Amino acid sequence: MSTKPHILVVFGSTRQGRRGEVVVDWLRDKLATRTDATFEFVDLREIPLSFFDSPASPARGSIAPEAAQWAEQVDRADGFIFVTPEYNHSYSAVLKNAIDHLYMQWVHKPGAIVSYGGMSAGYRAAEQLRLVLVELKMVPIREQMGISLVPGVVPHIADQPDSPGGAFLERAYSGMMTELLWWANALIPARQRDREQQS
Ligand SMILES: Cc1cc2nc3c(=O)[nH]c(=O)nc-3n(C[C@H](O)[C@H](O)[C@H](O)COP(=O)(O)O)c2cc1C
Repeated sequence: MSTKPHILVVFGSTRQGRRGEVVVDWLRDKLATRTDATFEFVDLREIPLSFFDSPASPARGSIAPEAAQWAEQVDRADGFIFVTPEYNHSYSAVLKNAIDHLYMQWVHKPGAIVSYGGMSAGYRAAEQLRLVLVELKMVPIREQMGISLVPGVVPHIADQPDSPGGAFLERAYSGMMTELLWWANALIPARQRDREQQS
């Protein structure tokens, strides 16, 4: 059985004409070269969830039937990379809704953030998402990637690896992955111990 962490990459834009696909594609190419974890990508367009309106909290284990597949995907992940746009200084509503549909499936797992947006590279969205991850008993990874989609702004997705912007992105990516996988590896046995004690 593989002991490598399984990381779920959650793409948080479902907008018509969304521009975040360049960010996801960039990340997909980077992750494809790694052998230290397995990676699965989920596009929230393919997880059609209505606005969360369950009478009971998912923190008590109640999952809406429509969220069953989403719950299973999140449950088997050992960590996450949230790819989120910045909308009005926050992350997307569709990502928040997908998060709120679950609870136990997030607990004691690390979450890294790749934000993107205008001049601020989505950093304000990332800061707000961090607060929510803490409430889910997750470990928000300090090292993060912020990518501007405005041409000429550093760092930009199209920057060459040997340019200042490209080198910055590479360092940010490398630092984020090191920390994410450190925590993912550390928490796998910890969650296993919990399961054994509960059974
Ligand atoms: C409703 C809305 C609000 C936005 N608010 C911000 C913002 O607060 N800060 C920012 O840098 N960019 C903002 N933008 C620009 C987006 O980050 C940019 O359009 C990005 O491409 C959105 O991701 P998407 O195209 O994948 O949905 C906003 C865009 C939209 C549509």
